[in-house]
Amino acid sequence: MKPGDPKLKLLYAYTKALSVALGYRDQLTRLHSERVRDLCAGIGIRCGLNEKQLDALRIAASFHDIGKIGIPDHILLKPSAFTKAEWEEMKRHAEIGAEIIASIEIDGAHDAAVVIRHHHEHFDGSGYPDGLKGERIPICSRIISIADSYDAMAVTRTYHHAKSHPQVMDVMYEETGKKHDPELMNIFCDVIESGDFPLARSDQRSAPI
Ligand SMILES: [Fe+2]
Repeated sequence: MKPGDPKLKLLYAYTKALSVALGYRDQLTRLHSERVRDLCAGIGIRCGLNEKQLDALRIAASFHDIGKIGIPDHILLKPSAFTKAEWEEMKRHAEIGAEIIASIEIDGAHDAAVVIRHHHEHFDGSGYPDGLKGERIPICSRIISIADSYDAMAVTRTYHHAKSHPQVMDVMYEETGKKHDPELMNIFCDVIESGDFPLARSDQRSAPI
């Protein structure tokens, strides 16, 4: 599922090397990003995004956590809960990722960087790094937030066990209107129930990764 625009293809090729680099530091994040990219594309298509927007969404979703390259190992790979200071440091990955992608002087990089910067904003304004609210958050960032949340809860990590699909959806419904855009959540529900994507704790996800 690569971008169709030739300029974005070039951007994708450059940033793919970064993704491989991230994989050497944190393989789980790399695999997570690939699943999030595919789910985001499914949501974006249902939203009626145009090809240019879909290309930007795929790029940003693929590299939304690329800023974790800049997070120290003792935090990035910590198997237990973060302290407040560690959590503040971890939150910097959104800004670091945007800075990395923006530094690639190719068409499309700036748009992708903006989307990456805001992928942890919350619909009610309680997210980071800028506390943006509602539709001031780029739609592609709102889509990534939903797909990111689903996948993060659906797989086993060193600090939590995978939740089942109904358990994940319960949490996400609870967060709708706070963390997630209600309209996009409706679209996400259609997409995830369509059978086109692996559900949490399905065969594809039953083994810890
Ligand atoms: Fe992130």
